[in-house]
Amino acid sequence: MARKPRKESGKPSKESVGIRKGRFEKGMDPEFARFNASIAFDKRLAAQDITGSIAHVKMLGMEGILSPDEAYEIEMGLTRVLVDIENDRLAFRDDLEDIHIHVEEALKEKIGDTAGKLHTARSRNDQVALDLRLYVLDVSQEVSHELLNLMTALTDRSSETMDVLMPGYTHLQRAQPVRLSHHLMAYFQMFRRDWERFRDARARVDEMPLGSAALAGTTFPVNRETVATLLGFSKIGANSMDAVSDRDFAVEFVFDCSMVMMHLSRLSEELILWSTSEFGFCRLPDAYCSGSSIMPQKKNPDACELIRGKTGRVFGDLMSLLTTLKALPLTYNKDLQEDKEPLFDAIDTVKGCIKIMTGIIRGVEFDKERMNAACLDPSLAATDLADGLTREGVPFREAHSIIGARIRDEYAGEARTNKRGRLPSPEMMAEARCHPGGTARASVDEQIRAAREFLSVHMDSTASGKTGSKRKRKG
Ligand code: ARG
Repeated sequence: MARKPRKESGKPSKESVGIRKGRFEKGMDPEFARFNASIAFDKRLAAQDITGSIAHVKMLGMEGILSPDEAYEIEMGLTRVLVDIENDRLAFRDDLEDIHIHVEEALKEKIGDTAGKLHTARSRNDQVALDLRLYVLDVSQEVSHELLNLMTALTDRSSETMDVLMPGYTHLQRAQPVRLSHHLMAYFQMFRRDWERFRDARARVDEMPLGSAALAGTTFPVNRETVATLLGFSKIGANSMDAVSDRDFAVEFVFDCSMVMMHLSRLSEELILWSTSEFGFCRLPDAYCSGSSIMPQKKNPDACELIRGKTGRVFGDLMSLLTTLKALPLTYNKDLQEDKEPLFDAIDTVKGCIKIMTGIIRGVEFDKERMNAACLDPSLAATDLADGLTREGVPFREAHSIIGARIRDEYAGEARTNKRGRLPSPEMMAEARCHPGGTARASVDEQIRAAREFLSVHMDSTASGKTGSKRKRKG
């Protein structure tokens, strides 16, 4: 196809291209052409678009809707178009609106008028719905794979830091001693649920929309099951009107991204706090920090701050997608073209953030001495002392107020003493919580064992979580 972009004059072009040829007498206003075009962002769907078209045309050939020769010619042409796109040999033009028309025009350059038969029994409405589903299936695998890497880093760091005790917090006040490894494994659980959420959501992306055509279905004797099988879908969309206008799967995916970001923002915030001189619990890796342009002493936790900041951006993507869909009448409306940028932004952002966080977790140095020393704060023993009285028969509520008053007196007026007297050691306190899910070594060991098992089962299944071509597609 022509490499030179069409010349842009101020006046509407007289020539009507592609889909405008019949119905329109005049060309498009150039400013509207730019406004209307989605090619700048939906070119990202090129691989999925061509994969979908190949399955469609194969089916057209198999069902005798096109001759076998025509179908084969179109399929070969599409393969060549994909190679051109992958090698940046296709010039994108606003007057060709979107990736679907670009591919069809490029095909025409390659094989001539037979290209016009590709769109038999199809509309851009079911086509774009298919492309987006294929895309979400692909990127969902990629994010899942990145999550497993992050979970692996958390598990590795947990097994290394089993001996490190630190204060656990509620209300950001020192509460009870916990193992650092227990704290890190709490994040493993969050990302494990996120991973499962992406997997569960893929079951709802797995509905093949093609055959719905514009909205009502098609008059051609298509075989939708064949297309589904060729593309690796396990079922077809049950209602053509729903299939062309449903974007629930995109919303769900961006919600799942938002949940990951929310978890990452909590972890970022803790690392930022822990790396302050006030806490002094960790040193963030130089590789993920910046300096100040004026204050020579500064080492700023920029990576963590950016992850925390980008969380708002992904929440915005979710809200933008939901709002686009709100009150939209059936079936396809051009509003739906606005679904893509928030989706693409969410995926780019969440993938980048998980990768950066994995590097931070691998490189962060924990200050074992500072953490252990902070655990010597006698107030951290309060619950254990109250539990002790309770074991002697004092009702817990009473024991609670006895110890509460003792702590209050100790804290009144004079500086807090760090005299521990007969207080249990932090290690003893941690070990006393030895049931499943507690912070004792045996419990954390068990969490790590279960984590490793989870990772080894699932690492393999998403190891090929790369791009479209790697998905299991027949044909
Ligand atoms: N670029 C369009 C989109 O992203 C493709 C579908 C266009 N369909 C239509 N009837 N104009 O939604």
